[in-house]
Amino acid sequence: MYIGIDLGTSSVKLILASLKGEVISSVSKNYDLLIPKPMWTEQNPNDWYEQTLLGLKELVKGYEKEIKAIGFSGQMHGLVILGDQDQILRHAILWNDQRTIEEVDYLNDEIGIETLLNQTGNIALTGLTAPKLLWVKKNEPEIFSKIDKVMLPKDYIAYKLSGTFATDVSDVSGTLYYDVKAKAYSKHMLKLLSIEEKQLPKVYESYEKIGSLKRELKEMLNIEQDVDIIIGAGDQAAGAVGIGIVNDGKASVSLGTSGVVFVASDTFKEDRKSYLQSYAHANGKYHMMGVMLNAAGSLNWWSEKIFQNFNYSDFFEKLELTSIDDSIYFLPYLSGERSPINDPNATGVFFGLRLEHRKAHMDRAVIEGVTYALKQSFDLIKGLGVDIDELRITGGGAKSEVWAQMIADIFNVKVVTIKIEEGPALGAAILAMVGNRAFSSVEDACRHMIKTNKLYEPNQKNAILYERKYNDFIKIYPTIKKLYKDI
Ligand code: XUL
Repeated sequence: MYIGIDLGTSSVKLILASLKGEVISSVSKNYDLLIPKPMWTEQNPNDWYEQTLLGLKELVKGYEKEIKAIGFSGQMHGLVILGDQDQILRHAILWNDQRTIEEVDYLNDEIGIETLLNQTGNIALTGLTAPKLLWVKKNEPEIFSKIDKVMLPKDYIAYKLSGTFATDVSDVSGTLYYDVKAKAYSKHMLKLLSIEEKQLPKVYESYEKIGSLKRELKEMLNIEQDVDIIIGAGDQAAGAVGIGIVNDGKASVSLGTSGVVFVASDTFKEDRKSYLQSYAHANGKYHMMGVMLNAAGSLNWWSEKIFQNFNYSDFFEKLELTSIDDSIYFLPYLSGERSPINDPNATGVFFGLRLEHRKAHMDRAVIEGVTYALKQSFDLIKGLGVDIDELRITGGGAKSEVWAQMIADIFNVKVVTIKIEEGPALGAAILAMVGNRAFSSVEDACRHMIKTNKLYEPNQKNAILYERKYNDFIKIYPTIKKLYKDI
């Protein structure tokens, strides 16, 4: 049996998986999201650890003798800093924290996008780790001077369970102080951040063993045998493994709170003029992704916060009764946006309202707007010469057949869903299996375990209607962009 631990933003999810890809049991434990100021998000790493231990205790009960290895997945980009006694120096600053607008402007404008791309393969975004370090250095110099170790969220848990100070290629790709193509820390970036390599973890491939479960923890869990600790991956790469997106050109769209277009690639590809993230993948290769901040998040805002009565299937049934050929648009930038516009000042907009419009027309505009925004990232990836003929969709949003068909029509590609959807936690368990040598490679493990479910073929008549609307949608943001700063 293999354990996958996914350290999410609202909870830690732990699963116990077999070599057939069956999920034998799963446990979730919540922790608080701290919002000390608007647009700031933090968590206490100690809460992560305590809840992970509680979850482990529940999960392994009755299976103690069968546990072979543990693998990790985690929210990316978060800054965890420890002092020389391994004390937590401040709360972790999370991936969705927007306090670093100044630092990002400094990196992109003064250090320059060209230098950042040459050093790391990526440009600065508010969520990434390097701007957070600059923020701490400027605003909390006392704390900055005490830093002994800098790590990412899941690496903190791996460290506590194994005692090994480690990270993996996919997660460290999202720091902006790692050269993704060369797979090495960027000396130039470290100097700029006043950080030395000895303060940073050793980088492993995501499927590599970094050590074993500590003796005292084995005793606490009543485990006698050795348990391998496999470092695992950032949640996007682990999630892709969990649905089998590991071969060149394979792509997925995940419709969680955020929305991600993800493509696996055998070679490193970078997007020198826009806002895709080019990272190392958990299978030893590379991937690219466009991350929008509010996908199902927009739907939840519209239905739960604005209308306060939300019935998921009812919502999508009513949506089907409205016509595609209706020019009303929604820009889904409810907390600024990352891909493809990278504008923390952007906000949500409805455009094209008329007297004849009813709620269902606006419902449709919300879902279409999210899907058009995802298609923009998809088109950027295709523009780099990646041939994509099929998309796997996952996340809460993938449960709606109406939305799945809409994606097939708007992207004009085949869309498939997956049989067992356990998200990044299953990816983490698969990485644990590969690290424990139950499979020879991540690709081999996915081939054995991941099965597709339903297929949605694009409807060509709808695809033509949506294409026209998409071409209008992408004109709106560039036209009003300046207003976001002025108003
Ligand atoms: C990826 C990203 C999110 C976080 C939180 O770049 O910011 O996927 O990892 O889940």
